Amino acid sequence: MSRREVLLSGGATVVAGAMPASAALAQAAAPEPGRAPVLAEVALTVNGTAHTLRLDTRTTLLDALREHLKLTGSKKGCDHGQCGACTVIAGGRRINACLSLAVMHAGDEITTIEGLGTPQDLHPMQRAFVRHDGYQCGYCTPGQVCSAVAVLEEIEAGIPSHVSDDLDARPRVTADEIRERMSGNLCRCGAYSNIVDAITEVAGRRA
Ligand code: FES
Ligand code: FES
Repeated sequence: MSRREVLLSGGATVVAGAMPASAALAQAAAPEPGRAPVLAEVALTVNGTAHTLRLDTRTTLLDALREHLKLTGSKKGCDHGQCGACTVIAGGRRINACLSLAVMHAGDEITTIEGLGTPQDLHPMQRAFVRHDGYQCGYCTPGQVCSAVAVLEEIEAGIPSHVSDDLDARPRVTADEIRERMSGNLCRCGAYSNIVDAITEVAGRRA
């Protein structure tokens, strides 16, 4: 489906919102020919398990995980790339799953919070979040933990950030580096300082 077709179908939804409910329902029940969702088979591996899903091509990776695979650990905070609650690791890189279409991940290996650890066997980053009280309500925490795990991989791979002094040297794990790299993960409860402490502890153990 072209970008133009996606925009047109979005416009149709807005118009439907302004109609009486009965008219909107009638229209929803009888989609115009040519406007039916385009479906595609998407094969991807999530937390080590292979899946093939038949999806509307407009389905985001986040909705594929939550609605189709029932992996509800990844959270939907804003649904437009501003909060980081939906962060997952795709092919070794952290991404906002709400900003990525599932069809773009055919053949990819995805890791969600469910694939990092279990309640009986927590990932070291999850243990550190618990030890340092890196959360309150916990809504942002799955995204924070996935992001934090990927941040340490990025630093280990020598990828500089906006606050790295020397772009050619291997970045050091400083509080400034962690804050900058985690700046896409918002926490309404304000657990930021404890999150930095948790990540610093895990980085120290890996050094
Ligand atoms: S839900 Fe994806 S960034 Fe907020
Ligand atoms: S712990 Fe509540 S939003 Fe972060």
